[in-house]
Amino acid sequence: MWQGAWAQYRAVSINELAVLPQGVEMGAASTLPVAGVTVLRALRTAGDVTGKRVLVTGAAGGVGRFAIQLARLAGAEVIAVVSCPERALGLQELGVTQIVTAPTEVAGQVDVVLEAGGADLLAAATQILCPQGLIVSISGSLSPGLALPEGRLIRFSMGGHVGQDLQFLVSLLATGQLQTSIGYRSNWREFDQAAKQLLDRNINGKAVLDID
Ligand SMILES: NC(=O)c1ccc[n+]([C@@H]2O[C@H](COP(=O)([O-])OP(=O)(O)OC[C@H]3O[C@@H](n4cnc5c(N)ncnc54)[C@H](OP(=O)(O)O)[C@@H]3O)[C@@H](O)[C@H]2O)c1
Repeated sequence: MWQGAWAQYRAVSINELAVLPQGVEMGAASTLPVAGVTVLRALRTAGDVTGKRVLVTGAAGGVGRFAIQLARLAGAEVIAVVSCPERALGLQELGVTQIVTAPTEVAGQVDVVLEAGGADLLAAATQILCPQGLIVSISGSLSPGLALPEGRLIRFSMGGHVGQDLQFLVSLLATGQLQTSIGYRSNWREFDQAAKQLLDRNINGKAVLDID
């Protein structure tokens, strides 16, 4: 699934496909296969989050914005961590209860951390994790020497065969239960500008490049 996508046409297994319902725009749907499916599966890994407090790090990014929405849909109270208040644009509308610029600003403990913001934020999040809590590391970036009791940290990997999960996410889009936060849209010939904006952390959510 992961190679050869930078092309107008490519062969792909039907296990990796979903049918777009009428009214779902292709660019919006294109944001789902990696970031959306990742969050859906990471949440499954975390178990039932109904009524639980979920901390999302890297909340302003592509993964983070889906994490907020899918955790809310699953019945969690969601707290978002962003690097500065300006990066919080649009997060309130996605359903967060609280936005902080560091995990240590959170009053009380959290049950689950969906980590998409890197090692430093993950390390800080361990300080507010409840004793039976769980951290799902999505970025895979861990501080050397980070010590957590057995079973409290899962290093998540999305895996393949995304078709069914993609179909579910597309249905959420079609029914207005999920929003794709597209912070940048352009033509694939302008990849360099898009990459620079992403690396400079100037994009709120996903960058979408249209193939012609
Ligand atoms: N495990 C998997 O299968 C899987 C699947 C998809 C993605 N990922 C990983 O998940 C992570 C998030 O992906 P994404 O698409 O959401 O990325 P993204 O859109 O670039 O967002 C990354 C977020 O991390 C925050 N951040 C904190 N420290 C940072 C630093 N030093 N440099 C850059 N960003 C920093 C940023 O916060 P601010 O915006 O507040 O500055 C940003 O919102 C990435 O590491 C990606 O590789 C893993």
